[in-house]
Amino acid sequence: MGAAVLVLFSFCVFISPVRSLDNGLALKPTMGWLHWERFMCNIDCDTDPNNCISENLYMQMANIMVTEGWKEAGYEYVCIDDCWPSHQRDAQGRLQADSKRFPSGIKKLADYVHSKGLKLGIYADLGTKTCGGFPGSLGYYDIDAQTFADWGVDLLKFDGCYMKWNLLGEGYTNMSIALNKTGRSIVYSCEWPLYEWPYHQPDYSAIRKACNHWRNSMDVEDSWASVKTILEWTADHQNVIVPVAGPGGWNDPDMLVIGNFGLSHAQQESQMALWAIMASPLLMSNDLRDICPRSKELLQNRHIIAISQDPLGKQGYRTAKVNNFEVWERPLSGGRLALAVMNKYETGGPRGFPLTLATLPSWKICTPQCNVTQVLPSYKELGIQTLLSKLVVAINPSGTALLSIAPLKGDLKNQWLLWKDVSSRNTHNSVL
Ligand code: GLA
Repeated sequence: MGAAVLVLFSFCVFISPVRSLDNGLALKPTMGWLHWERFMCNIDCDTDPNNCISENLYMQMANIMVTEGWKEAGYEYVCIDDCWPSHQRDAQGRLQADSKRFPSGIKKLADYVHSKGLKLGIYADLGTKTCGGFPGSLGYYDIDAQTFADWGVDLLKFDGCYMKWNLLGEGYTNMSIALNKTGRSIVYSCEWPLYEWPYHQPDYSAIRKACNHWRNSMDVEDSWASVKTILEWTADHQNVIVPVAGPGGWNDPDMLVIGNFGLSHAQQESQMALWAIMASPLLMSNDLRDICPRSKELLQNRHIIAISQDPLGKQGYRTAKVNNFEVWERPLSGGRLALAVMNKYETGGPRGFPLTLATLPSWKICTPQCNVTQVLPSYKELGIQTLLSKLVVAINPSGTALLSIAPLKGDLKNQWLLWKDVSSRNTHNSVL
C-alpha cells in the first residue's frame, strides 16, 4: 500500500462516524408486526384459541399482511415475542417451541411466513429466564443463534431480564457475534440500554456496533400517558441518543399501539407522526384481523412511511416547546425537512400554530421559497411559500400536524413579486 493510500485510509477510519453493526441489515427502520403489547403472554389456547400465542396467530397475521395491503405498504417482519417456547430445552440443549401451541414447529412457521414474501422474528433473553419466565439463553448463545438460523428466523428480539446489569454489554455483544457466525441475515433487536440506564449512561457506540436497534425506555402501553412518557424520555435524552441513530442502527421507542383501545384518533396520529420523525422501527402491536379503517389508513399512510424510511436516515428531535405546542424536526434527503407540531393541550378544540420565523426558526428553509406539504391531519399541498407567508396549521388536542418542507431555489425578484402578491391580498392562510 502506497504511503498516500495509507494516509487516506487512516484518515477515513479516523473520521468515520459511529460504526454500525456490519450485517448489512436495517438500513431503514424495520417495519412489521410484533405480538407483545396486544397479545402479551396469553398462553391459554383452550379458552381463548383466537388470541393465544400460537402458530395460528402469526399465520393469520401473515395472511392479512399480504391481503390487506400491509406488505405493500412496507410492513415486512411478523414477530413472535415472549412466551412461545416450551419450558424445557430438547435433548441437544436447543430451545423448542411449545408443542401444543406450535404443533408444526418454528421452522414450518418460518417457511410459511417466507412463502408469503414476509420475514419471521423471534424473541429470546440473554439472562437465565425470559421476562415471562421461559428458558433464557445464558450459556446457550451459540446454540440458540444456530437454532434460530436453522429455523430460518430473520430477526431476533433479545431481552435483558434475569441478568446482572454489568454483564449486559458482554452478553449482547456475544450474541451479536454468535448471530453473525451463523452466516444468516438476522436483524438484531436489543434491549441493552433499557436495562443499563438505571445504573449509568450506556455506551451507545458499543451498542450500535452490536445491534440493529435498541430499546431505551419503558415498555409502551395502550395509553396516551404511556406514549407521552416515551416521547418525553426521548426528548430528554436526545443529545445522547439522536447522534448514534442512522442506517443499520436505530433507537427503538417500542411498538406502535395504533388500532387498539387506548388512543384517540388524534393521539394515534401523534404516535405515527412522531415515530416517523424519530426514525423508529415501525412495529405494530395490534389485531390486524380487527382494526378500524381509519387506524389502518393511518398506519399505511405512504407519506408518513416515506418520512420514516427517508434514505438520509437521520433521526429527528424536539426543537421547541412553545405555548403548549411541541415542535419536532427531522432532516430529510434532498435538503428537505419533516416537521411535527404537537398540541399538548388536552382540552378545548383545535389550536392554530403559525408557521413563521418567530415561532419556527427553521422556517428560514423557505428563503427564498419552499414547497410545503401537510401530511397530517389530512393531506394537503400547501404550495410555494416564502419567509413572509402566514400559514397557520390547526392542531387537535393531543394531535399532531405533520408537514414536509422542500427548499426551492428562486431569485430575489420572484420573492419580491410573491411578497407583493401576499401583502396585497393580506392573506392569513389557514390550513384547517
Ligand atoms: C420486556 C420487554 C417487552 C416484552 C416483555 C416480554 O418487558 O421490554 O417488550 O418483550 O419483556 O416478557
